[in-house]
Amino acid sequence: MTDPGLDLVVRRARVATASDTFDADIGVAGGRIVQLGVDLPKGVREIDAAGRVVTPGGVDAHCHFDQPMAPPLRMADDFDTGTRAAACGGTTTVIPFAAQMKGQSLKAAVADYHHRAEGRAHVDYAFHLIVSDPTPAVLKEELPALIRDGYTSFKIYMTYEDLKLDDGQILDVLEVAREHGAMAMVHAENADCIEWLTKRLEAAGRTAPRFHAHSRPMLVEREATHRAISLAELVDVPVLIVHVSGREAVEQIRWARAHGLKVYAETCPQYLFLTAADLGIDDSYQGAKCVCSPPPRDKANQEIIWDGLNDGLFTLFSSDHAPFRYDAPEGKKPDGEEVSFRHIPNGIPGVETRMPLLYSEGVLAGRMTLNRFVELTATNPAKAYGLHPRKGSIAIGSDADLVIWNERELVLRNADLHHAVDYTPYEGQTLKAWPALTLIGGAVVWDGQFHPRAGLGRFLRCGKPTLAPDGGRN
Ligand code: URP
Ligand code: ZN
Ligand code: ZN
Repeated sequence: MTDPGLDLVVRRARVATASDTFDADIGVAGGRIVQLGVDLPKGVREIDAAGRVVTPGGVDAHCHFDQPMAPPLRMADDFDTGTRAAACGGTTTVIPFAAQMKGQSLKAAVADYHHRAEGRAHVDYAFHLIVSDPTPAVLKEELPALIRDGYTSFKIYMTYEDLKLDDGQILDVLEVAREHGAMAMVHAENADCIEWLTKRLEAAGRTAPRFHAHSRPMLVEREATHRAISLAELVDVPVLIVHVSGREAVEQIRWARAHGLKVYAETCPQYLFLTAADLGIDDSYQGAKCVCSPPPRDKANQEIIWDGLNDGLFTLFSSDHAPFRYDAPEGKKPDGEEVSFRHIPNGIPGVETRMPLLYSEGVLAGRMTLNRFVELTATNPAKAYGLHPRKGSIAIGSDADLVIWNERELVLRNADLHHAVDYTPYEGQTLKAWPALTLIGGAVVWDGQFHPRAGLGRFLRCGKPTLAPDGGRN
């Protein structure tokens, strides 16, 4: 018998959450999960998952779409193409960054960013803030008001001329995070060391893309990670170190945790699947495709990142999707030139490939449990940024954002992806799985074809973080 109260039943699913794996039918009404059980009544629509793994839709808590850039640079993906790519790769919620430019009010940055998103997003979205100009008005009025209004996380930079804060400014901003219960994310690299090394490399004529990695050795990440942890300790506030690349930063985070400090950590696919050799072994400009910061390291560091993903050191696995076209004057060849590594825009695409890469090389290669995969890619990001349990789980009352996995071999080709970037760093890599279906609020957005829903992606106001102090494991 059909139950008119059930808009959809996903039948015979192998449901995976952060804690359990079990066989069930999933009943959906009004865009939310309302029943989990065996032999549920017939829904108005039916999807037979036939024993396939079904996970919560991914929450990509670190991606950059249509972020304002100094000319000639422009990001390749806006909220249309960026969220299209997200959906096709199994991500149903994204959290990009409303970036304050120096001299700009934070409120104005947020208003501008809403304008960029409105009517374009195919998946649900929230905003982090980027605080680059912590004036008294920002610290006393704007930031507290925005936190109260559902923008409960912000990123601060220790590098990049146009974004970086000095230690005093970082302390001021961390104090606001403590007073108002926000999550502070830190890009930890020592700007002065990078500048010092860059000048020397340039003076020696070493300007090819591969020298980007030489200008940002792990020491600069280690020092800044330790400093960020110390500043947070001084203020007595949790801190989240983003895009951790390898051993030296990992050691600082382990040290902090061992001393009882609330330090969370995020890593990204590039630190598992790329090495510095991808920036070039000769002076070819192709390496610009993999220029990101911190740079990818080496195979030994990839193993350290895998260990950290499995043993709880890392709380989040995000893409850090920062999309620039390779062969474009607004991208990796500014004004059409092959420039010194210093001027290559930092960042690589990855919002569509994040989930399939980790599912393939983590879960199906036997390196990670299915439940840990769910925790890292969906549940913990939702908890870290106050979106759980609405997002990041398969539970009664959660949004019906689901991925039904197809475990089959495929070769990654940029031509098959849905972002607006003209390359993927993972071209030619064999994967073991890809989403067969992605559902958002019970609506199919990807089933091998993309079903656009521009403007139906909803803006989400974030609550306070709900992660446990040990990184979300208990
Ligand atoms: O190289 C990177 N990661 N670019 C994106 C901006 C950032 O720092 O996250
Ligand atoms: Zn960063
Ligand atoms: Zn980033």
